[in-house]
Amino acid sequence: MNRIFSGIQPTAKMHIGNYLGAVRHWVRLQDSFDAIFCVVDLHALTQPQDPAELRQATRELAATLMAAGINPERSILFAQSSVAAHSELAWLFSCVAPLGWLNRMTQFKEKAGKKREQAMLGLYSYPVLMAADILAYLATHVPVGEDQKQHLELTREIAGSFNHRYGVEMFPLPEPQILGSATRVMSLRDGSAKMSKSDASDYSRINMTDDADTIAQKFRKAKTDPEPLPSEPDGLEGRPEAANLVTIFAALSDISTADVLTRFGGAQFSTFKSELADLAASSLAPIAGELRRLLDDPDYVDGVLRDGAARARGIADPVIARTQEIMGIHRV
Ligand code: TYM
Repeated sequence: MNRIFSGIQPTAKMHIGNYLGAVRHWVRLQDSFDAIFCVVDLHALTQPQDPAELRQATRELAATLMAAGINPERSILFAQSSVAAHSELAWLFSCVAPLGWLNRMTQFKEKAGKKREQAMLGLYSYPVLMAADILAYLATHVPVGEDQKQHLELTREIAGSFNHRYGVEMFPLPEPQILGSATRVMSLRDGSAKMSKSDASDYSRINMTDDADTIAQKFRKAKTDPEPLPSEPDGLEGRPEAANLVTIFAALSDISTADVLTRFGGAQFSTFKSELADLAASSLAPIAGELRRLLDDPDYVDGVLRDGAARARGIADPVIARTQEIMGIHRV
C-alpha cells in the first residue's frame, strides 16, 4: 500500500514557498494516497522558541493546513509531540545511524554556522527525528520541497541499514516526491537565498495571511533587474529574481513558465508585478478567510489534532513494538 507522510515546522507563519513547494501538492495527493500530515513541533524546538508562541503557532499552522485544503476526514493531521513513537523511534535510529552520515548534512552546517560547539544536540540529530517521523508510519512517499532532499536520502539510508543489520524487510525506502515547478521558491529580496520563515525581513516572503495591500507592496519592492521580461524561458538564465517571480506566477496559475513568458515577454516588471500581486492576493484570500473562521473555533482545531493523534498512534505504536522486538528490547 502506498502511504505519504510529510511535515512542516510551526516556527513562524506559513509562506508561499511552503504552499507552492509542498502543501498544495499534499492537498492533491490526499485523493490518491493514504495521507498523514504532521505539524513538527519537536523539530521546532531545535531553535529557541517562546513556549506560548510555539503552542499557538502549532494550532495556527494546523488550521492553516486545513484552510489550504487538508481534509482531516480523509487525511490524518496531528502534532508530532502528541505521538510518543516519533521520539522513541528517533532514539532507536540514533543507535544505528553513524555520525559520519550526520556530518554530511548541510542544513546543520548552515544553521549552526561558526557556533558549532554551542549548537544543540537536537539540531544535529534533527534528520534522525525526521527519519523516525516518516518510518514510524512505514510511509512510501514523502512530498517535500527541494531543500529536504538530503534529509530524505538519509532516511533511506537509515531504513536500508536497519533492514540489512537485522536481516529484515521492516522499513520501506521512502521516495521523495519533489513536485511541480516551484520546488525552491526564492526570497523576494535575494534571488540566491531560499524563501524562509527564519529570514529576518518579512519583505523576503509572502505569508499565507498577508492581505492584498501587503502582497502588492512586497512584490512592488521585490528585487528585480533593469531588463524587461524575456519572451522565452532561456532568457531567464542568469536572472534569478526574474526567474523566481515568473516561477511563482506559473505555479499560482498552474501554467508553464513558457506560457507566462508568452504573455508577458517584453513587459516591464511594474506591469508584471502588479498582475502577480493580484493573482497572489486572489489565490490566498480564500485560504486566509477560511483560516480566520477556523481560528474562531480553537476547540474544533484542537479536536482535529486530538483525533489525528489517536489515529496516528494506531499506526505507529505497532511499528515501534515490532522495531523494539527486532532490536532485542525485552517487552513484558
Ligand atoms: P519546513 O517547515 O521548513 O517546510 C515545510 C515544507 O515546505 C517546503 N519549503 C519550500 N518549498 C519551496 N520553496 C521554499 N522556499 C520552501 N521552503 C520550505 C519544504 O521543503 C517542506 O516540504 N524538516 C522539514 C519538516 C519535516 C518533515 C518531516 C518533512 C519534519 N519531519 C518528515 C517531511 C517528512 C522542514 O523543516 O520543513
